[in-house]
Amino acid sequence: MARWFRKKNTSEALAFEEEPAVEVSSSPSRQIKSPLLTVSGVHRSFQVGGQRLDVLKGIEMELKPLQLVMLKGRSGSGKTTLLNLIGGLDQPNEGEIRFQEHAFHLSSDDERTLIRRKEIGFIFQSYALMPLLSAWENVELALRMAGIPRSEWKARVKHCLELVGLGKRMHHRPFELSGGEQQRVAIAKAIAHRPSLILADEPTAELDSQMGAQIMSVFRSIMKTEQITICMTTHDPTILEVADHVYEMVDGKFVS
Ligand SMILES: Nc1ncnc2c1ncn2[C@@H]1O[C@H](COP(=O)(O)OP(=O)(O)OP(=O)(O)O)[C@@H](O)[C@H]1O
Ligand SMILES: [Mg+2]
Repeated sequence: MARWFRKKNTSEALAFEEEPAVEVSSSPSRQIKSPLLTVSGVHRSFQVGGQRLDVLKGIEMELKPLQLVMLKGRSGSGKTTLLNLIGGLDQPNEGEIRFQEHAFHLSSDDERTLIRRKEIGFIFQSYALMPLLSAWENVELALRMAGIPRSEWKARVKHCLELVGLGKRMHHRPFELSGGEQQRVAIAKAIAHRPSLILADEPTAELDSQMGAQIMSVFRSIMKTEQITICMTTHDPTILEVADHVYEMVDGKFVS
């Protein structure tokens, strides 16, 4: 099992110990080793007050199956803008975004929405849970929205909540849960419909270092059990240590 441990001689730094990556899958489509996502020559600019603001200026990146990839860069450097493009919520002004066999830069809003509902899960800094629904109902709602047959809901909701360690908190509402627990409900919600890619925008930013470490441990565990690739943004150097790959954004491009 993967686990967190405290590094010798450092009181703060958390590191992550894991088994060698295994590329096994119950789903044949997830066994493909070619990139899950390719971003090439991507530019994105916005018109603000009659002026053009160039945010992304030629992004090249790749997400391989079962990788944990992190994006870092100063505030305003364009990380969220890029996550929105990767998730098909927005389109580039120039360049290509290929997700599996889909050309996101050429597809319509409706086409991207269909792919997103099936293949991508989102996690946000502020959890984005429905406040009046219990953890169970929040995850169930995700399955309903993804069009999963009702007969599958019960087993899947239970499985996902147990996977994130909330077996004993299934009927709590968000205000009855800690920040870390709420983020774990958000993770269960994001993986419920069995996406191949999770996009997480600063998922640990509102948590203390111990809770942040727990979230990263849950990420590592769901990558294996659910065969998921994760792309996330973070400012936290201790979290960056557990990435398979880190992309650093400077002036609208990645520096190596
Ligand atoms: N829809 C928009 N219209 C105009 N400007 C935008 C839009 N979306 C983003 N921007 C601008 O693009 C730049 C990058 O924003 P983005 O949110 O991607 O940064 P970020 O790297 O995620 O920052 P943070 O670390 O603070 O979350 C900012 O200057 C922002 O004001
Ligand atoms: Mg952002």
